Amino acid sequence: MFTPAPRADFPILGRTGRGGYPLVYLDSGATSQQPFAVIDAVREAVEDHNGAVKRGSHLLAEEATIAFESAREDVARFVGAAADEIVWTSGSTQSLNLIAYVLSNVSLGRGESVPPVPGVDMDRFRLGPGDVVVTTRAEHHANLIPWQELCLRTGATLRWLDLDREGRIDLSTLDVIDEHTKVVAFTHVSNVSGAISPVSEIVSAAHAVGALAVLDACQSVPHMPVDFHALDVDFAAFSGHKMLAPTGIGALYGKRDLLRALPPYQFGGSMIELVTMEKTTYADPPARFEAGTMPVAQAIGMGAAARYLQAIGMDTIAAYEANLTKILVNGVAEIPGVHVLGPAHEANRTGTVAFSVDGVHPHDVGQYLDSKGIAVRVGHHCAQPIHRHFGVFASTRASLGPYNTEDEVRFFIDTLREVRPYFGVED
Ligand code: ALA
Repeated sequence: MFTPAPRADFPILGRTGRGGYPLVYLDSGATSQQPFAVIDAVREAVEDHNGAVKRGSHLLAEEATIAFESAREDVARFVGAAADEIVWTSGSTQSLNLIAYVLSNVSLGRGESVPPVPGVDMDRFRLGPGDVVVTTRAEHHANLIPWQELCLRTGATLRWLDLDREGRIDLSTLDVIDEHTKVVAFTHVSNVSGAISPVSEIVSAAHAVGALAVLDACQSVPHMPVDFHALDVDFAAFSGHKMLAPTGIGALYGKRDLLRALPPYQFGGSMIELVTMEKTTYADPPARFEAGTMPVAQAIGMGAAARYLQAIGMDTIAAYEANLTKILVNGVAEIPGVHVLGPAHEANRTGTVAFSVDGVHPHDVGQYLDSKGIAVRVGHHCAQPIHRHFGVFASTRASLGPYNTEDEVRFFIDTLREVRPYFGVED
């Protein structure tokens, strides 16, 4: 059966699930599976080229450095960025914490630790009482708590864009962004509702008042073409393990001049220029934000994943997943007693579909599905506020990847239909 990412490329998809059922993996929103192209790139990096990057003059160190930096170029090309605008991190969570901590360092007066960049006003990065950080009620915790903490450290105030009944960002609440706003941090795609955010409206509102636009792109980059330059966001976060790459690797995108104007937030090897006992000067980005030995093999794996996805074409993946999403979301919405938390139709959303089942706890739903070989996520998906918005504390979530088939989606819907009768829940 056709899938844009051929199933034979993914060794794990050949195994069985619980009870000997064929594995139906519908948890790519939490973590995606890895193709041979990635597994082999990581294995080859470890087997043949393992050396400390940017630290040695021997052959292995040189080969590792070349592979590491060329992976950065591959990842940059994949998201419409330049290589020096891509900082390796451990994933979106670290990327978002990084930018929040750097802003707090500037607010504490550490902006002067790097040379000024012509045309960049450091006041844009400085927060204090009276300033505002805006986020949204749709965020997963990694794009909420770092901003709460930044506000606590600086005395700034946190505000948020609210959601409509479908869980989409409600643009009538855009007026929380005003002349006091310094940062607007928002998700490109909700990891619960699957709704695609109105990026250009939010970025325009942020830039109209001189605020920084920070995009959490971890749920969009694996599913659609994403070009950070075209979106005109100032910073963006995304994760390797959600885009067919290994865990422990991700990236922060930042506009070149903005990154150059910001001080570091972690200190140590390879992020410096000159160190004396009295004082240190710092390297240019991205090295300035990459203290210590990086997860080199994982970065090489992320480069391989970017090449793999680009060779298929993100337009092809988006079109394929749009059709599966239609079958998935409409199928779930039609089951009596099952409620989609998010748009209950396929328009302007991805194939991340969370739902509640009347009378059955999400963990029981997940266990029943697992007993038939179907892997989904259960719980609050690290996004409690949006669950509260929908009037529930937890849900079950099916999320697609480019290797899922129509048959898998239909089997999932048929199995979900059995859940309420199995638990004896009557209408
Ligand atoms: N990684 C988390 C998810 O599963 C937030 O959506």
